[in-house]
Amino acid sequence: MVILRGLIVHTPKNPFREAGALQAFSDGGLAFREGRILALGSFAEVRAQFPNASVQDCREGILLPGLVDTHVHYPQTRVIGAMGYSLLDWLQKRTLPLEAQLSDNKLARELAREFVKLLLRNGTTTALVFGSHFQGATANLFGAAEDVGLRIIAGQVCSDRLLLPALHTTPERSYAEQKMLIQRFHGRGKLRYAVTPRFSLSASEGLLEVCQTLLQEHPDLHFTTHLNENLEEIRTVAGLFPWSEHYLQTYDRFGLVGERSVFAHNVHPTEAELLRLAETRAAVAHCPSSNAFIGSGLFPMRRHLLHGVRFGLGSDVGGGTGFSLLKEGLMAYLTQRHAPDGVNLTPAHLLYLATQAGAEILGLGEEVGSLVPGKAADVVWIKPEPGSTLEVHFRHLDSVEDLLGSLFTLHGEAKVQKVWLDGREAPLD
Ligand code: GUN
Ligand code: ZN
Repeated sequence: MVILRGLIVHTPKNPFREAGALQAFSDGGLAFREGRILALGSFAEVRAQFPNASVQDCREGILLPGLVDTHVHYPQTRVIGAMGYSLLDWLQKRTLPLEAQLSDNKLARELAREFVKLLLRNGTTTALVFGSHFQGATANLFGAAEDVGLRIIAGQVCSDRLLLPALHTTPERSYAEQKMLIQRFHGRGKLRYAVTPRFSLSASEGLLEVCQTLLQEHPDLHFTTHLNENLEEIRTVAGLFPWSEHYLQTYDRFGLVGERSVFAHNVHPTEAELLRLAETRAAVAHCPSSNAFIGSGLFPMRRHLLHGVRFGLGSDVGGGTGFSLLKEGLMAYLTQRHAPDGVNLTPAHLLYLATQAGAEILGLGEEVGSLVPGKAADVVWIKPEPGSTLEVHFRHLDSVEDLLGSLFTLHGEAKVQKVWLDGREAPLD
């Protein structure tokens, strides 16, 4: 039994729906045993409840729920920072050639270990991950996540047309390879499988049918892909599926739009698509730094809210600018300030988006995302770098909301000191 003592902040309620969603304990206590949170409250209360627990002093800095990344690519760590491209060029010239190298299993294993370490070092404890086009490399990802105890939902990416032929599969091969991965990894510990066509631009109808079959055969699988990211991509998809009324329909026709589906980006949706996403309770991964970096456009957050379309935050590494979900929070804030009819986000919104909102769209809202007793003890302790502006703020700001605002704004000066996964301290170096 352990009690973490410090400033504890989380968003057990949805600030888009109700006031007072941010809950904070300035000298708080969080007790956990065997991976589960037992109590959250003032340190004095929690201590009185569990007088024999060992106490870890985290009073310097802030304790948050583990962060949730709803869209990140494991083979793309090394492409971060490739400037000056728009989506299809960026894929063709910089990203897919790198992804083709993952046919080398040794390299894949190295990248997988590096990837899970980088998630943890950025305070991410749960992620929906785009795997590799290669079965072996995707198995390496699951293995690396299992080794450190990271909670991931991931799958083998599939494509069978356009872009880079070295990454093409066939419907038959993809079915067989994915089936093996599902049998081996789905439901093993904290690992889950997501059927992952790259996007319908590079997927034939036959391949999308295979995705449908897998979901029918295993109704508890997840589904993820890309949607409405870039205008040229949208035009190309319209040409490839002449029968479709809109991009979402290229997935919907094959039964791929539902409560367990997460669509990355959705920067340029039509009203019909938002209506359909809301109706099916399908969700969106909003990736603000990627949208800015690749120049895809400004996310219409207000339209998603008005339609009741659920969304979380994604780093979209390597289109995004790094693994930090604190940075994604800041980017969401900045881009909404800049967007016509943008939403005026508060620090509570940003924390909610980086934690509970993501947990919910991954179907894990009862398991992670906040520090409510009964949930998994996935916790992040963040400290300001010594001598930094953020440290000055931590010494002088007294409102928790202001402090949280500066944490997101000065994320670059925030150091993830420790991470607990199911109550166990994770190795960060
Ligand atoms: N659309 C298809 N593949 C990708 C990818 O790897 N990154 C992004 N941002 N969009 C995509
Ligand atoms: Zn992506």
